[in-house]
Amino acid sequence: MQTYLRYAAGALGAVAILVLLLAPLASVLVDTWSLRDLESRSKLVYLSIKDQVTRHLASGNDSDVVSLFESLTADEKLLAVGYCDEAGQLLFATKLMPAKFACGSAPSGEGGTFSTIENEGSKILAASFPVAAPKGTGHLVVLHDLSFAERRAAKARLHWALAIAGAGLALVALAALSAFHLSRQWLGVIRQTIAEAAGAPAFIPNAPRAAPLLGSELRQLVRDLQRAPPLAEGIQVEWSPQTLRLLLGHELPNAEVLVVSNREPYIHNRTGDGIEMQIPASGLVAALEPVMRACGGTWVAHGSGSADRETVDAHDRIAVPPSAPAYTLRRVWLSEDQQAGYYYGFANEGLWPLCHISFVPPNFREADWRSYQEVNRLFAEAIAKEARSDDPIILVQDYHFAVLPRLLKERLPRATILTFWHIPWPNAETFSICPFKEEIIGGLLGSTILGFHTQFHCNNFLETVDRFIEARIDRERASVTFGGHETIVRPYPISIEWPPQALEKQASVDECRRSVRAELGIGEDVHIGVGVERFDYTKGVLNRIRAIDELLTRHPEWRGRFVFIQAAAPSRSKLDTYRHLQEEAKELAGAVNAKYGGAGPEPIHLLIRHHEPDEVFKLFRAADVCVVSSLHDGMNLVAKEFVAARDDERGVLVLSQFAGASRELAEALIVNPYDAHGLGEAIDEALNMPLNEQRERMRLMRAQVKERNVYRWAGQMLLDAARVRKRRRIVDLAEQRQLGG
Ligand code: F6P
Repeated sequence: MQTYLRYAAGALGAVAILVLLLAPLASVLVDTWSLRDLESRSKLVYLSIKDQVTRHLASGNDSDVVSLFESLTADEKLLAVGYCDEAGQLLFATKLMPAKFACGSAPSGEGGTFSTIENEGSKILAASFPVAAPKGTGHLVVLHDLSFAERRAAKARLHWALAIAGAGLALVALAALSAFHLSRQWLGVIRQTIAEAAGAPAFIPNAPRAAPLLGSELRQLVRDLQRAPPLAEGIQVEWSPQTLRLLLGHELPNAEVLVVSNREPYIHNRTGDGIEMQIPASGLVAALEPVMRACGGTWVAHGSGSADRETVDAHDRIAVPPSAPAYTLRRVWLSEDQQAGYYYGFANEGLWPLCHISFVPPNFREADWRSYQEVNRLFAEAIAKEARSDDPIILVQDYHFAVLPRLLKERLPRATILTFWHIPWPNAETFSICPFKEEIIGGLLGSTILGFHTQFHCNNFLETVDRFIEARIDRERASVTFGGHETIVRPYPISIEWPPQALEKQASVDECRRSVRAELGIGEDVHIGVGVERFDYTKGVLNRIRAIDELLTRHPEWRGRFVFIQAAAPSRSKLDTYRHLQEEAKELAGAVNAKYGGAGPEPIHLLIRHHEPDEVFKLFRAADVCVVSSLHDGMNLVAKEFVAARDDERGVLVLSQFAGASRELAEALIVNPYDAHGLGEAIDEALNMPLNEQRERMRLMRAQVKERNVYRWAGQMLLDAARVRKRRRIVDLAEQRQLGG
């Protein structure tokens, strides 16, 4: 509208300038025309009475001459008529003949002369024509009042200006109408082309078609836009909480951010000493918590702590982090049965082993599946209640919520749903084991964007879709359209915050080493290896212990000179597989300790308890080598945390080739955890690595983790979400305009 008003003002200005420019010309034309008009009137008067005047003069009938003259002045434009004799004497004149008129001021000429004379401030046109008389040739004078002509000329000028302005305005209006009509047609063409190129169904009935060339150019432009990497991908951006906040403010202004995960970031437990707060051992929490601290919003999660209910308000909310609140944690309560079916059963006995190739057979029970769906519905309701807007950005986390995206889409159709699958996605053949595969895939395809850690997992997912449901896969756009809804499927390698908060409170590396040695009774000359994880069979803890056995067998020089600290947080202990794993690990470690411990230090310290991030970072800083031997892992953030903890650029990372992190941390010693001998050799290589090589490798890995930190992970997803939202807004706008005619 404003644009149209601007155009209208411009057009009016142009018309005004036109009128001003043409006004002097119009004035000259009108004045000349008025004068000529009066001259011809004068001539007409002369011609009409010339003979009668001659006759009256010849007959000496003076009074007839005067009355003849008076009869003419009935015309209001004619001021006066008079007769001058040959000597220049005014012999006869009408009443209004100016007193000061002198015949000399209107000299006679052959065919008539015209002159302008002044009379009491006004102008008079005096016309003089020869008249034959008995006493020689006199002349007839005809006086017209020029002020009348001037008034008429002014009027004519006004009409002229109005006519030009009118014509100008009419032209402007005509041009505007044509432009408006044309622009509507073009907009229609552009909307149609964008919609077609974006893969949306043709939504504009009877939309004008673009000329083939134009259409293809437009389509190319839209495709370029689609393919163009987001700004932050193309240039070197230092991702930080500030960058993320800026991005949110700039690309997603006023967007409401909601996160949903099973695991909560802060757990309150009742202990003998009162209420204790715990930060769970979870890669998901380690990654998302800093993002939420930066962005604010609401995090909806299962309230699993024994004192969780005591610490929330009447709406089950608590502001966190408790020391410096930055966002809201909304706890959802689950019954024992729901936890048994949804969490332990379907998620951790079914999907977890299904997605990890770790040779624990998945167990899918119908009752667990029902419980899983029920809890997904429960969370969908909780999120719908928490949402303050109809189009929030909802970050759905992990395999606990495979059907949640679709449930959310039904409740909040305008929401942008970003789902991130934190664990691997197996190949289609493996996934076919799941009896509920179609529902799981369909549920995930309620997402706007579905993210995995690696391109390999994305490919596996697309292959699974292709195999089991009727959907359109666009490999160029990396998207799946199912039931008319498009889901973008992209890799977003997760990471950690940089610099990690837990590093802030750390003492120097030497201090950490002294402290750890003192706590565990490790001598000065003993090298230290660490492993930190949840006690989970996918982490390869047993394989690690076997490898240490191999190391000490093949390299006896390390006996008594190497200890391995394994911090393992008890996890999912209600499940037999996890309990057995703990038992087996304890036995195996005990056997290795018995074999090599003898009188010296035991080579393996198995610390089965929860470690807070500060403790974990202290262990990392004290270590000579960190071993991550996952049998299969989506990413594994322990590897990245170890690298981040080593600001002294020392220490060696031994990393499983089956962890997603091995794609990024190529300077680690990459190992096959199933090969105990090879893993043992890699630990030996790490322990013998010269300091300068350690530094070179650590520098490169630190640069990598610093640059590709968790703010980048969240930022890339949010940038993609912003692009989808912008595109949707274009389509909405086009539809609205279309509806509005
Ligand atoms: O690896 C997947 C994952 O969800 C991680 O993100 C997290 O570290 C872990 O599993 C959570 O385990 P749980 O919440 O069952 O203790």
